[in-house]
Amino acid sequence: KIYPVILSGGAGTRLWPLSRAVMPKQLLPLVTDKTMLQETALRVRGWPGLMAPLVVCGNEHRFLVAEQLRGVGITPHGILLEPAGRNTAPAVAAAAAFLKAQDPDAVMLVLPADHVIEKNEAFRIAVERAAAQVEQGALATFGIVPSAPETGYGYIRRGEPLPGCDDCYKIERFVEKPDRNTAEGFVADGGFYWNSGMFMFRADRFLSEIEKHAPTIAEAAGAAVQSAYRDLDFCRLDEAAFAASPSDSIDYAVMEHTRDGVVVAADIGWSDVGSWSALADVQDKDANGNAIRGDVYLDSTSNTLVRAESRIVAVVGVKDLVVVETNDAVLVAHKDMVQRVKNVVDHLKGNE
Ligand code: GDD
Ligand code: MG
Repeated sequence: KIYPVILSGGAGTRLWPLSRAVMPKQLLPLVTDKTMLQETALRVRGWPGLMAPLVVCGNEHRFLVAEQLRGVGITPHGILLEPAGRNTAPAVAAAAAFLKAQDPDAVMLVLPADHVIEKNEAFRIAVERAAAQVEQGALATFGIVPSAPETGYGYIRRGEPLPGCDDCYKIERFVEKPDRNTAEGFVADGGFYWNSGMFMFRADRFLSEIEKHAPTIAEAAGAAVQSAYRDLDFCRLDEAAFAASPSDSIDYAVMEHTRDGVVVAADIGWSDVGSWSALADVQDKDANGNAIRGDVYLDSTSNTLVRAESRIVAVVGVKDLVVVETNDAVLVAHKDMVQRVKNVVDHLKGNE
C-alpha cells in the first residue's frame, strides 16, 4: 500500500505579506480557490493503490489542517503533530516509523503541501514508474529538467539508466542547494535534474538509510513515535523526544548520502511556487502579461502581479512589478528582486 505523506510545516516567507506564521503558504488559496494543501490532497485522491494521506504539520496548525481537509471531503489516514519544527528529515522519519508500525510493507509518497503540478496524469504515471523501483528498495526522487541555475534547489546527476523503466536512472550524485557557479556548471552539463522535493520509498528502507546516515535524527524520531499519544483525530509526537532531534532536511541528511537513490525524470508542469514571480508564472495572465487577484484597476501596466486582499489597488504606468496588498502590510517589489522578500521577514522578526 502507498501512503501519501504530506509535509505541511514550512513558513513560505518569500510570499510575505500574504504568507504568515499563523497562515503559511500551504494553507492559503494561492493559485486556485482551494488552498495548496487541499490541492495536494485532492491531486492523489482515488489513484489506484493509494491510501488516504498522512499529514505532518506543526501543532499550531492542527485545526486549520483538519478543517481544510474536511472542507474538500478528505478523511486523512492521520495527522502527525510536531511539537516544534525540526525540518523535513525528522518529519519524514517520524512518518516512516508511524506507518511501519501499522504496516511493515508501507510505501511512502512524500509530497510537499505547497507545490503546483499542472500535468496530473503525467505525475500519476511517474509515480507508477517509480513504484517498481521502490519495491526493490530504491529511494526514488522525481527529477525536473532545469530551466535556470537556481540555487534554492537540489541537483541530481543521473547515472546508469534503469532497465524496464523509461527515463529512470541511478542517482550518481545528489547536491543540495549548490552555489551559483556550481549550479551554472550543472545546468550547462545537461546531465542534471532539479530535485522536485517529492520522494517515494518503503518506510523500512527510509528508516534503515536514516539510521545509517543520521542516527541521532532516526533515534529521536523513533522515540517520539513510540511515546506519541492520540488526541482527537491527531497523533502528537512526544515533545521531549522530538526536541532531541537535530534540525536537518531529508536532502542533506539522507539523499546526499544514500547509494540507493534513483531519479524518475518527470515532465509534469512542476513549480514549487517559491516566490512571487514563480506564482505569477503559474497564474492566468491578461494580454499584457499581468496576473491579478482581487479588486484591481490597471492602466498602461505590463508583466506585473497585483494582489488586492482587502482594498482597491490601482496601478498605473509600471512594468515588471509585484504589488501585494493585505490588511496590515503592503509589498511593492521589482520582479527580479523577489527572492529578497524573505529579508523583510527577517527584519520584522528582529523588531518584534
Ligand atoms: N511537517 C513539516 N515540518 N514540514 C516541513 C518542515 C517541518 O519542519 N520544514 C519544511 N516542511 C515542508 C515545507 O512546507 C515544504 O512543503 C517541504 O517540506 C520542503 O521544505 P522547504 O523548506 O520548502 O524545502 P526547500 O524548498 O528549501 O528545498 C526542498 O525542495 C526543493 C524543491 O522545491 C529540497 O527537497 C530541494 O532539494 C528541492 O529542490
Ligand atoms: Mg520549498
